Amino acid sequence: MAGAKLIVGNWKMHGLSGAAGEIDAIIAGLPETTANAIVCPPFTLVAAFAARTAGTPLRIGAQDVHPGAMGAHTGDIAAAMLVDAGAVAVIVGHSERRAGHAETDAIVRAKTAAAVAAGLMAIVCVGETAAERRAGEAVAVVERQLAGSLPAGGDYAVAYEPVWAIGSGLTPTAAEIAAMHAAIRAVVGPRPRILYGGSVKPGNAAELLAIADVDGALVGGASLAARDFLAIVGASPPA
Ligand code: PGA
Repeated sequence: MAGAKLIVGNWKMHGLSGAAGEIDAIIAGLPETTANAIVCPPFTLVAAFAARTAGTPLRIGAQDVHPGAMGAHTGDIAAAMLVDAGAVAVIVGHSERRAGHAETDAIVRAKTAAAVAAGLMAIVCVGETAAERRAGEAVAVVERQLAGSLPAGGDYAVAYEPVWAIGSGLTPTAAEIAAMHAAIRAVVGPRPRILYGGSVKPGNAAELLAIADVDGALVGGASLAARDFLAIVGASPPA
């Protein structure tokens, strides 16, 4: 997809109310004319951050959603609740949830469907393990995840996040990312954004965001400090 890049910060299980200062710093430094930016804090901060960013270019998302409507699901969060709290997007199927919460493709697809039905942009994560890449199966694994987890329609983005690149400081080569994003593009068609995620830092963001079919980035560790997140947003080439 051509157009402005989308930079999404995934705070994971980090952030207390005092982290609002980072949000204020991002708002203050966000150039209005470049990439679109979304920060996904833990659930506990979604409503407060959404209120804080109202009327600014920074938007707020969440990191997970329950596939069902509101009901008897202790500890879970429905898509309608995220919308009500002011979220515009939600990450689904992150590898830490696929691994840590046994989320299958079918569960991810149900979550994605619930998100898009509620009007949220679903950011659907896919990616191979190191062993799968070594075995030459990376593209096949990602194609299988896409076939199993994408919604039938609606507003969604795909985030290609090689499991071995998350939090490791390692990234695939530009050629490997280009090849994977081309394979994903062949599945999703021209409209959805395809983000790259996995050790995106201020120092490599410009190079990664210039790769063909890389429409943005999903950023973990480097999104926790406003300065680093802003540097990544600022590394986006103009639309
Ligand atoms: P990282 O995490 O940027 O810290 O590698 C990315 C992610 O897990 O979304």
